[in-house]
Amino acid sequence: MDYKIALAAGDGIGPEIAGIATKVLDKIGEKYGHEFTYENILLGGASIDAHGVPVTDEAIEIAKSSDGILLGAVGGWKWDTIEPKLRPEQGLLKLRKELQVYANLRPAIIYKELRDASPLKNEILGDGIDILVVRELVGGIYFGERKTYEEDGLRTAYDMEKYNEGEIRRIAKIAFESAMKRNKKVTSVDKANVLDSSKLWRAVVEEVHKDYPEVKLEHLYIDNAAMQVVRDPRQFDVILTNNIFGDILSDEISQITGSIGMLPSASLGDNGPHLYEPIHGSAPDIAGQNLANPLAMILSAAMMLRYSFNLETEAKAIEEAVEKTLAAGFRTGDIAAGKEKIGCKEMGEEVLARI
Ligand code: IPM
Ligand code: MG
Repeated sequence: MDYKIALAAGDGIGPEIAGIATKVLDKIGEKYGHEFTYENILLGGASIDAHGVPVTDEAIEIAKSSDGILLGAVGGWKWDTIEPKLRPEQGLLKLRKELQVYANLRPAIIYKELRDASPLKNEILGDGIDILVVRELVGGIYFGERKTYEEDGLRTAYDMEKYNEGEIRRIAKIAFESAMKRNKKVTSVDKANVLDSSKLWRAVVEEVHKDYPEVKLEHLYIDNAAMQVVRDPRQFDVILTNNIFGDILSDEISQITGSIGMLPSASLGDNGPHLYEPIHGSAPDIAGQNLANPLAMILSAAMMLRYSFNLETEAKAIEEAVEKTLAAGFRTGDIAAGKEKIGCKEMGEEVLARI
């Protein structure tokens, strides 16, 4: 089959890791008889430099008419002082919103070879960690009304956290459906002891739970959840949470698996096309130096094969190649934990050689 991929390499380390992901896909194509074609779209700082805005309508149209969108990372120091509405991140948020990819799946597993890179003790890691963060992606405080103004002579600003029951119900369904295919436990994370939006979140999650009696549901406040993921990460299966808590919690969880450079994500909507992106940022401090870890990006491409193209065997082939590469001892700097390091490109070559 032919698949048309919109490729948004973005900024910083984005182009380096995106280039490796397309090589991996091409190798899969060769081996399994598929053709992947790429249409590049500019996003974030790259688009600001070319067009003065972090994403253009044309880029969004190309994304919408593709079979799947693969994204590197956006942002960098160069654009840090730009007007807030034009920041690189706004391009990504607009793309997510336009595509209505409301369900961000962030699987966090700890590879046995990378246990040394985890800051947690061996007895806490036990026989391993396997958590799926289901983060709401197109609502909440990221998209609520916001304003910076003067009140009583003081500079004042606010951002509104707002959800309706429909937005909560659809993401809760995704979490319960995911749990049914896993270990049948959902931990919903909120701040219902303080926030109205969280009280509604909790009530709707409980309603949806009625359709999934086999799944065990627990609720945790975000502060407690942030503590529990380092105290006893093995208690979690699926973590369901809103946009802002999911952003924070997934970075924390990525670190306990060894490195944020390892975690892929899939952002899914009801009607495709879906968006695939590593959870890490553009890492401007190491950009262009062949130091980045391309594995989160490669694993995001695998998620695209699985969720958008229904190519499970091919997705597994990539994931197994990554595992074998780690087992053979190859490490980028972020996961080296004292071992010898190789560069981003070399890491890509090692994975390619194992497909
Ligand atoms: C992420 C990132 C983005 C987010 C930024 C770049 C806007 O941190 O995907 O987690 O906050 O969603
Ligand atoms: Mg984040």
